[in-house]
This record gives sequence, structure tokens and C-alpha cells, in this order.
Amino acid sequence: MVEKAVEHLSEAEARDELASLSRVLSEANKAYHTLDAPEISDAEYDALKRRNAAIEARFPTLKRADSPSDVVGAGVADGFGKVPHRVRMLSLENAFEDSDIDDFVDRIRKYLNHSGPLEFTAEPKIDGLSLSLRYEGGQLVQAATRGDGEVGENVTANARTIRDIPQAIENAPGVLEVRGEVYMSHADFASLNARQAAAGGKTFANPRNAAAGSLRQLDATITAGRPLRFFAYAWGDLSSPLASTQMAAIQRLTDFGFQTNPLTEICDSPASLLTHYRSIEQRRANLGYDIDGVVYKVNDLGLQARLGFRSTTPRWAIAHKFPAELAWTELLDVDIQVGRTGALSPVARLRPVTVGGVVVSNATLHNEDYIAGRDSKGGEIRGGKDIRIGDWVQVYRAGDVIPKVADVDLSRRKDGSQSFDFPKICPECGSPAVREEGDSVRRCTGGLICPAQAVERLKHFVSRSAFDIEGLGAKQVELFFNDADLPVKTPADIFTLAERDAANGLKRLKNRDGFGETSVTKLFAAIEAKRSIPLDRLIFALGIRHVGEVAAQVLARHFSTWEAFEATVGNAQDGNAAWQELLSIDGVGRTMAQSVVAAFQNEQERRAIDDLVQRLRVLPVIWTAAKESPVAGKTVVFTGTLEKMTRAEAKARAEALGAKVAGSVSAKTDLLVAGPGAGSKAKEAARLGVETIDEDAWLALIGDA
Ligand code: IVH
Repeated sequence: MVEKAVEHLSEAEARDELASLSRVLSEANKAYHTLDAPEISDAEYDALKRRNAAIEARFPTLKRADSPSDVVGAGVADGFGKVPHRVRMLSLENAFEDSDIDDFVDRIRKYLNHSGPLEFTAEPKIDGLSLSLRYEGGQLVQAATRGDGEVGENVTANARTIRDIPQAIENAPGVLEVRGEVYMSHADFASLNARQAAAGGKTFANPRNAAAGSLRQLDATITAGRPLRFFAYAWGDLSSPLASTQMAAIQRLTDFGFQTNPLTEICDSPASLLTHYRSIEQRRANLGYDIDGVVYKVNDLGLQARLGFRSTTPRWAIAHKFPAELAWTELLDVDIQVGRTGALSPVARLRPVTVGGVVVSNATLHNEDYIAGRDSKGGEIRGGKDIRIGDWVQVYRAGDVIPKVADVDLSRRKDGSQSFDFPKICPECGSPAVREEGDSVRRCTGGLICPAQAVERLKHFVSRSAFDIEGLGAKQVELFFNDADLPVKTPADIFTLAERDAANGLKRLKNRDGFGETSVTKLFAAIEAKRSIPLDRLIFALGIRHVGEVAAQVLARHFSTWEAFEATVGNAQDGNAAWQELLSIDGVGRTMAQSVVAAFQNEQERRAIDDLVQRLRVLPVIWTAAKESPVAGKTVVFTGTLEKMTRAEAKARAEALGAKVAGSVSAKTDLLVAGPGAGSKAKEAARLGVETIDEDAWLALIGDA
């Protein structure tokens, strides 16, 4: 359609066009920020915005309340409306030492002149951001951030997108302000960051920042795509009291439909507070979300009222903090580790520092772009600050996540420091290390010549899902790899181990420290047992890049026998019939096919494979899909958090029932199983009209409800 010049538009046409521009631009913002692939180019976006501005300039009275002109740059406009809090939102006094808790309790007793029994609630201090929700007549009417405690920001539209926040509640006081913490779980944080990174968007340093950044979005559709959660733990303005104790009041919040923390307990002495503190601290790593301490509150609300407030904190509560999970320390060096597929991974060597009770001396630096302060698309991270050896860096640790370097303190940077020069040759074997287009990772091109790749390949070869040889794990593989008398350099060497050992006379394994006659006999028997191996395990064990367990199964099912697999892969080239056959397999894409063919064409790799296979009996894979299962032949995608099973388990079971499990939603998807926190995939499914069900419906479908 040819666009009409703005000066020729009638008023009605202008109104219509402003409406459609507002819709298109807000869609574009959403597509961009929620990280579904942007649907229009930056240039198109700019052109549409200019046209919108031109029409508004000619018809100022037609400017819409939701005008795209008021959305600045990244979709963040001037600011949020202000909300004065009717009851101030306070913060908490902090305690760090056990003795501070004795003091806290003593102070309260003195203040109240109370020597009888005194109860407290003790509950985790959630590391998120606080939010006040106002309900009038049971309806959510307003949500506000804490702000300066007196005046917060109006984030009502955003809060309405959070599943843990009820829109309406029954049997509530006419006016009820519920207060609590918005936070993001570790799992959701990790997948959000992965999605952001994949789409070239902004990644967050920790779940708290991610939660804050997600809640404080002017465009609530962005918040809607973010997996935020909410724990209620307090209240503000009330038209009638909730209860006479803190614990009973929390129970009422639970009854209203709020999530309240299950680790909340009543304690009746400083000693029992400390016991609960330690027990929460012990569970901290497994909670799945960040907490930074335990909050103690006087249980009796009458006593709370008597105790009242100091200028910014209540006298009746205190936050007993954990040692921080963030810490600053010096970056002593950067080591480069070379992985199985040749990836060069930078590892920070740190001056040891305690982070959340654990001593950390190593942390990941991800890749060379991360060190340079760039994301994979060249955008800035950490405001573009690079990381240098000698810098003071912030180390972040959450749960069982590998610690990472999150930030750098430029004010402490040493004079004469130099930006980190990421190696262009492999530090292990000297082969060139190259970055393929679109890959954020630099890789060693040495293949099996590279000792680091070779040993990592061996570790993979013996791993649980591959050959799984009892008594031959990563540690033993490393020992044998460097062993002068009984070296294991390739997988085939594992199957000649016994034979070679027998020829070693006095240097035989059974005579060595750490090995006895029995353990050697056992080891050799375990190796012998794995001479017969199913084709899918063998293919996976080869450790070919892009060929994971699922791909190995797909290939094995298609070819059934090693001979058929080898014939096709060995002959595939330049679009010939063998290449076409590979590509025709459902689940095999060009990247994977190329990777498999390249492995078979590389002389050294091919020799290693042939040497191995000639020592094995490869068991054919016969594919018996449960044809009668309701999901047989269906393509299923799982997204969001599954609560009754792990992702791996869900996938394995779906596959056992003959379903194909895919990683992303497309027109070929038959079914999306969406748990809490489902984001862009659920939207894509809705767009494509793909049937979407929750985990329970899935279990019912496969007959396991
Ligand atoms: S009670 C009047 N309970 O910690 C006291 N606060 O450092 C109201 N927080 O601003 C707060 N978990 O954002 C309370 N279980 C909990 C909490 C908690 C996290 C936050 C809250 C508060 C800050 C004070």
C-alpha cells in the first residue's frame, strides 16, 4: 500500500492511522523486549515512529493517551505515577551477630517491661523488592513499589500480570493493603537470561536485578513475559484488623490466596530464633530463590503496636542477615580451559573470598565478549566496563549455580592495567582458536591433537549416558591419559587396557598404589561388559559437537545398525544421496549433519572411531514407539517450570510414549506443555494456535494423573 502524504490525510484517516501505529509500535516494542524475535527492523520502526509524530504534529488533538511518541527509546517513558503510601513502608534494622539477637530481645523486654513468655515469628528475608497491593472491596485497585517509603511508584498494571497476586479476594476487609516481596526464582532467572542472551538482549547480574528490572517496566506486556513471583509477609492500611498475632495474620493472607513463606515458624527465645536461623541457612542453597537473612517479628500484634517505630524501622522486628552472596575480591588471573568441543572458557582465579558462607576462588567469565563488556550482538553489558587482571570484581553466587564475576569496580583499577587479550591460539596445543560466525565462543581447531580436547572427550566417553564404565570415571581417565606405562589416549585404548597391562610385567596395574588385584579385575570386567553397546549410546559417546543424547537416539533409530550409519555418514557430501538422507531425518538439521559428517571426514577422528568400533559389538537399535499412546507421533514442547518432574524426566517419558520433544515452538508443534513462568514459547504457541496445556493436564493425558 502506498502511504498517503500526511498533509493529505483527513481527520478520520489520521485517527485510524494513529490507532494502528500505536498498535503496531507497541507490538514491535513487545516483540523486541520480550525477546520473541523482533518483527520489524530498527529502520522500519524509526520510520513508523516518525510518521506517527508527523501525524500528531498536524492533528495535535488526536494525540492518543498511549501515544508511541511518549515511549522513549527502549520503551521506557518518563516515569511511573507517584503513589503516597497511607501507611509508610519501612525497612528493617539489621543484625549480623548472634549477640545482636540477644540485644534485640532484651531491648524489647525492657521497653515493654515484660518478663513473661515472648513469642516471635522467624521467616526468610526474601531478596527481591517490596510491593504494596491495595484491595478495596476485595478488588486489587493499586500496586506500588516502596520508593522512599513515603511515596512509591504506581506499578498496578505490572502487578496484575503476576500470577501469585490475586486480582480479587473474598471475605477481605473493605480496605486491605498487602505487602510483600516480588522476586524471581533461580531457574526462571537462568532461563530468562538464556532467552535474553539468545535474542541479543540485556542480561541481568542476579535474580533481584532481574525482578526489579522486570517489575519496573512502563510497558506491562514486558512484565507479563517475565516470570515474577510474590510472597506476602506484611500489611499496610486496613479497615479492620486481620488477627491478633503475626502468625494468624499471615495465615489469613494465605487464606486470601497469597503465597506466604512455608519456612515461617514461631520461636519463643533467642536460642530458638538462632536454631531456626541456622536451619534456614542450611536450606538456603536448595530453596530455588535468593534470601539474604531471616526476619524476626514479635508475634503479638498488641505488643507490636505498643513497641511502634523508630524513624525508619519498627522496634518489633529485625533482619538477621546471612553473610552476603555477593562479595568483592581481586581478580588474580584468568585461566583458559579447553572443553570437549574445543571451546575456550575463561575462568577467573580470585583471591579467595567468602560468598554466602562458601569460599570462592574460581568463577566463570563466560566468554571473551563478556570480559570485554559486550554481549554477543556487540551491545554493552555492565555499562560497557571490561574486566582486567588485577581489577576488583564482584563475585555472585546463588544456590548451586557456578559463581560468576558480575561487576567490576573501576575506581579501584590499577594504573597501567591492560585490557585482557583473549588468546587466539589454543593454550593447550597451540592450534589456532577461531570464532565461527554467530558463535560467542572461540574454539581450538586442534581436534584430537589437542590434549585438553582429547581428555575431555574421554571423560565424556565414559560418562553416565555414554559407556558408563564402573570404576573408570573422569578422575581415572585423567590418570590413564598421562600414564607412561599404560596410556589411554583414545576410547579404543580403553578396550586394549587389559591386554597391554598383561604385557607390563612388574609394572602391572595390580601392583600399583591405589589399585589391588580385586579392583583391577573388577575394572577389566566392567570394561569387557561394555564391549557390547547399543548404537545410540555409541553415537552419543563419540562426543560429536551438536550430537547430544536425543540426536544420538534419532540417528540410531533411523539407521538401526552401525554399518548403515557409517555408510551414510561416511559417504555424505555436497548434497549427494547420502547427505540428502541425513537431512531427511526428522530431528537432524544442517548444523548437526555437517558436524557429524565433518567428524567422519577428519582423518584422525575417523581413525579413532574405526579403531574403537572394531573392538566393539554394536547392538542395533530397534525403534518400538508405543503407537497406541495418545502422544505417539506428536511433537511436544515443554516450557516454564515443571513441578512434578524434571525436564529430563518429562522428555524421556514423552519419548518413551513415541512423542518427539522439540526445544522450540513452530508450526510443526502439536502440543505445548506450559508450567509457571512460561514466556515467549507460550505466546508463540498462542499465536500459532498450538494447543497448550499445563503439567497436570499433560500427566492426565499420558495416563499418570
Ligand atoms: S517485614 C515493617 N518480612 O526487607 C517491616 N520484610 O530490609 C516490613 N523483606 O523493605 C518488612 N523479606 O522489602 C519483612 N519476610 C520479610 C521480608 C522483608 C524481605 C524486605 C522488605 C523490606 C526489607 C528491609
